[in-house]
This record gives sequence, C-alpha cells and structure tokens, in this order.
Amino acid sequence: MSKKISVIGAGSVGAAIANDLMIQGIASEIVLIDVNEQKAFGEALDIYQGATFGSPTIVRAGDYADATDSDVVIITSGLPRKAGQSRLDLAQANVDVLKQITPNIVAAAPNAIYILVSNPVDILTYVFTKISGLPENQIIGSGTILDTSRLQACLAQRFSISPKNVHAHVYGEHGDSSFVPWSLVHIANNHIDEYKSHAPHGDEINWDHDYEEVEEFVRTSGSQVIKAKGATFFAVAVSVCHICKCIFNGAGAALTVSTMMHGEYGVDDVCLSMLNMVDNTGVRGKITNSLTPEEIRKLQLSAEKLKSIIAQIQY
Ligand code: 2OP
Repeated sequence: MSKKISVIGAGSVGAAIANDLMIQGIASEIVLIDVNEQKAFGEALDIYQGATFGSPTIVRAGDYADATDSDVVIITSGLPRKAGQSRLDLAQANVDVLKQITPNIVAAAPNAIYILVSNPVDILTYVFTKISGLPENQIIGSGTILDTSRLQACLAQRFSISPKNVHAHVYGEHGDSSFVPWSLVHIANNHIDEYKSHAPHGDEINWDHDYEEVEEFVRTSGSQVIKAKGATFFAVAVSVCHICKCIFNGAGAALTVSTMMHGEYGVDDVCLSMLNMVDNTGVRGKITNSLTPEEIRKLQLSAEKLKSIIAQIQY
C-alpha cells in the first residue's frame, strides 16, 4: 500500500530522516518542504538518486499543497541547538517558526499523523496540540525516544547483551530533567539489579547500581555529539523512522514519545514522555505502569519545569 510522508524542514535532521525513510522503504512517496526551496530541491534530488540502491521511493521537493493526503507529516523546522545552548533556550524562536507552518500544513494534511521533532520538542508538541486543532491521537513528539535508545545502547554495552534484551526507558522532558524509572528496568526478564547473579557471563557485566552515572551519560549525550561534530542527526533520524514504522504496523508498539498529559501520575496540561502505545491510529493511549513515589515526583518536577517555560512563551 502506498505511504506518503511529508518532511517539513530540509536541514540536517529533515534530510537524514528522508534518506533513512527511503533506504528502509518506509514510504512510497516523500515530499521535502522548506522555506529554502533550493535546499529542499537539492536534498530531494540527492536522496532520490540513491533510491536505485535503496527502495523504490519517489522523493521530491514541494510546497504545502504537495503534502495533501500525507499519511504522516514530520516537522523538523527551526533553529538547531548549538553547543552550550539548552533545548529550552530555543523555545520562543522555534515556537514562532511552528506558528507560521501549522495553519498551512494542517490545511493540506488534516488527517495525517504528525511527528514533532524540532527542539524543545515537548514545548513544540504542546504548542502544536494547542494551535493545530487536531485530535490528540494525531500528534506525537519524538520526545525521549532518542534518549531511550541511548539508554538501551549504554546498558546493552554494560551488560554485554543485545539492546533487544534491555527493557529500559527514559521519561519526562527531552532534556535536563529527564530521568529513568529504574524500578521498571529489566534485563532479559530480571530486574537490572538482579540480572548479574542469574547471567552466565556475570564477569563481563559492568553494573553496580550506577543509576546516576548512566542517567547523566544519557542526558549529556546530545551535547557531547553537538560539541564534537556540531549537530546531532543520525540517531534522531532512525528514531523518527522507527516511530513511522510503528504507525504503519498493525501491532501497537510501546514507545517513549511526548504527548499531552491528562492527569496521569498527577501531571496535566503539558507534553512530556512516558510509555505510549503507538499504532496506525497514531497515539492509542498511555501505558500507566506503576512508578515509585520518587519516580512520580521526578515526572512531576519535569512537568513543572516545562510548564514554567510554557508560561514564558507566546503562542
Ligand atoms: C539530541 O538530543 C539535539 O535534542 C537533540 O540529539
């Protein structure tokens, strides 16, 4: 079945997403839209000309009207985060960009599922939810899906095991107040602190209740990449492609993405990440796992931080 995805913003993140969508054969048609039409044209042509060795995908630049009938729209527009800059510093500038885009893209593709990627992603997801007029199931912020991937990669390395055997997730803001609900973390069906005593390769495992160290590594990974190469785009691109695959799959997938909260864990009227069920309806709903009182407090603190930013921006 044909699948059309429009990507708004042809910068490094948008282009990397479009290229991965083509390589993985996730979409049959990809439209790249950018205020810089020449950049969108160049990226689309470059990606399309590799399709011979990837998947048979139409990749083209277009304007908002070309996004009509998109199944998914991915919003990556905005200024990127610079070294030393927090995601929240970007808030007002990128909210202003989102305000310009939203009426145009929503008029062209009112039935699409929207994935917000630009930072600060939780703030932009919140603003988009408020100004787009779309049902909330159609709105997904990429949130901490990337942090979760970083966490799983880090734990997989420490436990010398496939990331597929690591059940660990990052909750809260995609940013400095994110945290890991360690009470839920399991390695091959054992709680993380129990696994070593059951494993056949205990001597290879590097784990001594290093919660803080791992959380800090995950929280600072984006900044480390930005400091070293100026931007992050490969890992976020595959994360976003994974969300698209989950949308197109019949079976639901549990993903940490940013969605509007409605009282879960005492958090309301803010977008942040916790486990959500994502399927071909978009966001089917939240998975309200039992958290410890301390974990619930961390989620509430993350929400409070985001709300204080929302109170300072105009949308
Ligand atoms: C990241 O974490 C910059 O938010 C982006 O890679």
